[in-house]
Amino acid sequence: MRSKARGALSGVPVLADLGDLSAKRVLVRTDFNVPLASGPGGPVVADDFRIRAALATLRWLQDRGAAVTACSHLGRPDGNVEDRWSMAPVAERLEALCPGVELMDNLRFDPGEKANSPAFVERLISGFDAYVNEAFGVAHRAHASVVGPPGHLPSAAGLRLAKEVEVLGGLLHSPARPFVVVLGGSKVSDKLGVLRALAAKADVVAVGGAMAFTFLTALGYDVGASIVDFDHVEECRKLLAMKATKLLLPVDVVALEPGGRGLGVPPSGVRGIEDTKVLGAHIPDGWQGLDIGPETAAAFAAAIAGAKTLFWNGPVGAFEDQRFAAGTEAVAQAVAACDGCTVVGGGDSVRAVDHLGLAERIDFVSTGGGASLSLLEHGDLPALAALRSAPNAPAA
Ligand code: 3PG
Repeated sequence: MRSKARGALSGVPVLADLGDLSAKRVLVRTDFNVPLASGPGGPVVADDFRIRAALATLRWLQDRGAAVTACSHLGRPDGNVEDRWSMAPVAERLEALCPGVELMDNLRFDPGEKANSPAFVERLISGFDAYVNEAFGVAHRAHASVVGPPGHLPSAAGLRLAKEVEVLGGLLHSPARPFVVVLGGSKVSDKLGVLRALAAKADVVAVGGAMAFTFLTALGYDVGASIVDFDHVEECRKLLAMKATKLLLPVDVVALEPGGRGLGVPPSGVRGIEDTKVLGAHIPDGWQGLDIGPETAAAFAAAIAGAKTLFWNGPVGAFEDQRFAAGTEAVAQAVAACDGCTVVGGGDSVRAVDHLGLAERIDFVSTGGGASLSLLEHGDLPALAALRSAPNAPAA
């Protein structure tokens, strides 16, 4: 039986469970899947948040005399060696932040990583005395480097991985109320599981982003040319029927007129924001909703302001295009101003918060997108289950 206090961490070994580390060789699975940008001499790390998040664990191990080797994936090279996904820029940044840590090349250059091949696991752990998982962002993937090594080596959760599980798990078990969730993003199919899990726990769930149009369709609204996932309308209808949680949906949207400038197409100088309009939740033919409107943003902000616990995942509009950024900016500002405990997860929402210089005002910014949603949906992760099976795991 797992102890309630430790939740998903129950039975998971921690760094202290590794014992004496002097002169031991430790393999650390990290998630250094970071954004790259082009620099004068080749690609450079554009955002080192995930590298910095692993530093405390890497230094903890070094301070105890361990020789530390980190390994990670970068991008999705799918079993092929691709120069553009070389870890070289990451290695350079890591050496600047934490000298003395070796970094293997991209794990996903080998098809055995994704396939969770036992032969790949054996090659990976060869020569190592212990394994640490400090890769929360990939903890929902049953890949070789995530779930394989604990079957063979004394293992532990890294400090950041443990913190992520503690904070996100706490949202499920004991949130201070009101507990408000803001979910955005484009694919409703990716979010339905977590929506169902959170709708049963939260007091208010505000839904924005393209996925809101599948909900509006379920309610019988005309949504014009907005993106709708017709395969999931029925599931949205069922969720709307769950009365325990208040679901907040857009009452107005910023829409692109028929034939307006597409997303990512640079302005020609002739057309600017004049090809967009704020419309009610009934959208005429040909118009495409791409952001929540000001009335919706105010309603979301009011719900966020009253929250004692707040979780935000996913932008509420196509925020990388300035014409459709106001909704996500309003949510980010409201989350930053909220006095309750605020948690933000998911690459795009984290990027929005960073871009606005608000990251310091958020209580916890998760390093995981899919992993944070998977933990909230299932209450556990493949990486944690694997760590519980390690030879040095404590009794649950
Ligand atoms: C992420 O960026 O969310 C993690 O590194 C996982 O990457 P993946 O979705 O390619 O497995």
